[in-house]
Amino acid sequence: MPAQIIDGKTLAETVRNQVAVETRQLIYDTGIVPHLAAVLVGSDPASEVYVRNKERACQKAGLKSTLHRLDAATTQADLLALITTLNCDMKIHGILVQLPLPMHLDATQILDAILPTKDVDAFHPENTGLMLQGRPRFLPCTPAGVMKMLEVSQVPTAGKHAVVIGRSDIVGKPMAALLVQKGVDATVTICHSRTADIGAICRTADILIAAVGIPEFVKSDMIKPGAVVIDVGINRVNERLVGDVDFNAAMTVASAITPVPGGVGPMTIAMLLQNTLKSARQSAGRTSST
Ligand code: GUN
Repeated sequence: MPAQIIDGKTLAETVRNQVAVETRQLIYDTGIVPHLAAVLVGSDPASEVYVRNKERACQKAGLKSTLHRLDAATTQADLLALITTLNCDMKIHGILVQLPLPMHLDATQILDAILPTKDVDAFHPENTGLMLQGRPRFLPCTPAGVMKMLEVSQVPTAGKHAVVIGRSDIVGKPMAALLVQKGVDATVTICHSRTADIGAICRTADILIAAVGIPEFVKSDMIKPGAVVIDVGINRVNERLVGDVDFNAAMTVASAITPVPGGVGPMTIAMLLQNTLKSARQSAGRTSST
């Protein structure tokens, strides 16, 4: 039987509709309009697409979004000055600096400068620490989107072996941290470029999460029959988007799989909106239900 498709596009729409309802309520109750400030330095084509999609999603859900476009030659000092301005602006609830930044900029210093209470990407070390300790302020958007997909698809996690391929600060590491939390209770392995016999480890995974950034890296012989496969990759190959998993081959082995496009990608944006709404609520002294 071919794998069940975990439809991120539809689930993301459900989440975004929920955010829209709650945003209307917040505006009605407090007059506060959740406001995301996105910063794009240069004109990387993929980043342009991501930022445009984020802006469109904000508008559709009733959130305000402002895009700050900076020249590719922007200096570290100028970018830090913009972050400081946004940090101090009481009407801004979320700040997002689109990555990657041009090579001459120090991304770590920039991300560290974002006020943690406005860090809706959840990249700041304070937010990473809170998440790791199981008391998150914001959850990082892509791993949070994956967790939501597992939850809604009723994928059992307790005592299951989850293997994460990739150790990035944005996806791999926080993904593993969320899977190991109490209540999720997976047993987690992180694989990376220096892992010995990665195929053998992947084949023991009940839940296999590919976040490696290599087109179709995961072949069918790396998947345990019946495993749930989550594909975080978005790679452009000959003008076509492909994931980190050989989708057609994996379909014949896995019990469930996320497609690319239409899987994890839309969920990332939905979680960003949820974080921005949460931040606006917290600025109003309200606790959040989501
Ligand atoms: N570039 C790729 N993914 C992301 C993300 O989730 N947030 C930001 N800010 N930049 C990215």
